[in-house]
Amino acid sequence: MDYISTSSTRLSTNCFHVAFTLRFIAILAILLSTTGLARAECPDFPQSQWWKTLSHDAVNKYVQAKHGGDWTKYIDKWERQYQTVKNIYDKGSAIVIGKDRIKVAGENLRIYVDKIKLRVEVIHCLSKEVNSAPSETGSTQMVSISGDGSIDPVAGKEKARAAGCFECHGEYGRGGDNPAAPHLAGQNDIYIVKQLKELQKLPSGGTNTYGTIERHNKVMREKVISLNDSDIWNLASFFSKQPCRSSTEANYALDMPEAAKSCMKCHGNNGVSVFPEVPNIAGQKESYLTAQIKAFRKAARETGDTGDKDIRYHYIMSMKVKDLNIREIRNVSKYYASLRCE
Ligand code: HEC
Ligand code: HEC
Repeated sequence: MDYISTSSTRLSTNCFHVAFTLRFIAILAILLSTTGLARAECPDFPQSQWWKTLSHDAVNKYVQAKHGGDWTKYIDKWERQYQTVKNIYDKGSAIVIGKDRIKVAGENLRIYVDKIKLRVEVIHCLSKEVNSAPSETGSTQMVSISGDGSIDPVAGKEKARAAGCFECHGEYGRGGDNPAAPHLAGQNDIYIVKQLKELQKLPSGGTNTYGTIERHNKVMREKVISLNDSDIWNLASFFSKQPCRSSTEANYALDMPEAAKSCMKCHGNNGVSVFPEVPNIAGQKESYLTAQIKAFRKAARETGDTGDKDIRYHYIMSMKVKDLNIREIRNVSKYYASLRCE
């Protein structure tokens, strides 16, 4: 194997440069650890023997200091790094890292490629948190959008009926016999808008380099492909204003399983989210919850060509549920389905 190829040599310089930068970041991390902002919403950075331990705050400060807060440059750099190393791995070649010129190839290189990919995902996540932090400020955004008189829930209701949304999602988005189609009533409007826009897109195709969010479902795509922006906002506004329906008639809730403890900070203490981009999951259909969590998990583990398959990937959610086993998935789904949605 010709591992000192031109590109590998160039890369080895890059890696050395990266190692240097990371040392710089590590120093910043110590200096700034007392003033750092909490970035708890994103997954932790992956660990690699080639990298110093990275923290969210340190990387955030680095981007502020180095790029004046412009994340696109930092994201670009790491996406290029990912592509370069991945190409070398795909060619069966090797890279040389650090001043000790350690050769990394084969399985070890694949692991390193996966780590860079994870790292890019965490960076994407951090950039989103800084720019549109799902916090109290998220609601301000929603108010100003809702304040635009062009959003019309009555037109949304007409559209929903005409487009046949109630056939699967139930009258007014409550219930319905289709176990794969979720309740929509009372769901957060910004979340619905984002989902409809994702569901309209065609898969990018090619190999599995998911962006930050990817959701494809052939049944839904057919139903939403011809909706325009104003239809989407009207529909979202209509469904979000409807009183929700809990999946269970009885007023009981199961004990919270261990695996659901980590879900609270985004989905709320009772499965009712306070962030407009994060869905409410309390009282949702159990079969739907199970299917979505399995889909997020599958996408986190998948490699290879995605083709035009139904998939659901989200940079936060997929990481959160990647290590849940099927029993834990059933337990959390049962639990959230058993909660009242109000
Ligand atoms: C033929 C049945 C069917 C019809 C008709 C239908 N849907 Fe769906 N819808 C589904 C299914 C199934 C899913 C779950 C997709 C998945 O698993 O990713 C879904 C998911 C959704 C979601 C995502 C909800 C969430 O919690 O993430 C939204 C929003 C939605 N539909 C809105 C609509 C609207 C608006 C219409 C009418 C224009 C519509 N649907 C018509 C079957 C349908
Ligand atoms: C750091 C925030 C965060 C945490 C923690 C989190 N989620 Fe989520 N969750 C999200 C976001 C954001 C979405 C929307 C994803 C999208 O846009 O596709 C989501 C979507 C979901 C959905 C899809 C709901 C629907 O209507 O389609 C389910 C189910 C879900 N999460 C379950 C869980 C469970 C179970 C846990 C704990 C094991 C968890 N989440 C932890 C942020 C989080």
